[in-house]
Amino acid sequence: MKILAIESSCDETAMAILEGNSRSLKLKKNIVYSQANIHKQYGGVVPEVAARQHVETIIPVMDNLLGKSRLATIDYVAVTSGPGLITSLVLGVTAAKTLAWASSLPLIGVNHIEGHIYSNWLSNKKLVADDAKLFPALVLIVSGGHTELVLMKNHGDYKLLGQTLDDAAGEAYDKVAKLLNLGYPGGPIVSQMAKDGNPKAYTFPRPMIDRPDYNFSFSGLKTAVLYALEKKQQVSSQDVKDICASFQVALVEVLVAKTIKAAKEQGAKAILLAGGVSANDNLKKHLAQKAKEINLPFFYPDLKYTGDNAAMIAVAAYYNINHQRNKVLVGNKVFDLVPQANWQLV
Ligand code: KG4
Ligand code: ZN
Repeated sequence: MKILAIESSCDETAMAILEGNSRSLKLKKNIVYSQANIHKQYGGVVPEVAARQHVETIIPVMDNLLGKSRLATIDYVAVTSGPGLITSLVLGVTAAKTLAWASSLPLIGVNHIEGHIYSNWLSNKKLVADDAKLFPALVLIVSGGHTELVLMKNHGDYKLLGQTLDDAAGEAYDKVAKLLNLGYPGGPIVSQMAKDGNPKAYTFPRPMIDRPDYNFSFSGLKTAVLYALEKKQQVSSQDVKDICASFQVALVEVLVAKTIKAAKEQGAKAILLAGGVSANDNLKKHLAQKAKEINLPFFYPDLKYTGDNAAMIAVAAYYNINHQRNKVLVGNKVFDLVPQANWQLV
């Protein structure tokens, strides 16, 4: 089965071609055009600017993807249809509908968060070969817009255990970076700075760590960073590193504690990490350590698939089609696919 996938839910214009069967997933092509450099000057993604950039790049990316081969060998078109910025989603969805309709190909809408979860299948052969014994798997999704603990009971069978009540983990990194004038996106810079900082220099709160539920809250942590900064007359470069390290240790401690607690209580057979923040070495290191202590296999995506990309959307589409989940649209029905900015996975 050969799938062409499109992802445009935020500030990446991405397309991929994936060939899948029960034994292997082969990524034939994978193009990600990131707009991060454009949004940097505004300190975050500006939806209107992102949408205009998608308009400019979507056809060149498609030309680059298909080359002379065009669509002759493609079996399905897949596209992220939510959640995300509606003005960005609409571009990818329109391109996908047009492509599917003009080429008489079936079209499938994919949930972006489910795509992040399936980035693990792209990166770990073990999952593709034999995932049945790893269910139920506990998934920690940490991105710029989401922080969720999900119990994946099988392909397409999810139970939401908890989520952030305010800021997402990636959002907390981005906001702390903004407070420290470190630029956008904040995650990579803050985690880099944290490497040379003292994580004990500041005692920031570990929000909701002792609560029995699986929810998170990170806005107070960001505010604690703001108060620490306001107390200082001058902020040295070492102060910045120490704040980054102290912030990160607090955030990682909460994420890891809640994930391990959920894995134990829910009888999970594996732990999976997904989303942009899964690029974070410190989070991976601590989660790997704790998963080992409770004898659970731990999976995380390769660095190149942690951020938004269309390869993960193609993999999610592959499993959706195989398990007859999301509706595959054909003929004029492709126009029924509507982008949903707030599409909840569960
Ligand atoms: O999944 P993603 O690419 O986009 C969304 O779907 O939101 O996640 C982007 C988020 C940003 O908030 C970014 O700062 C964060 O992931 N991020 C990181 C790291 N790399 C990216 N956060 C912490 N450490 C990193 N190394
Ligand atoms: Zn994402």
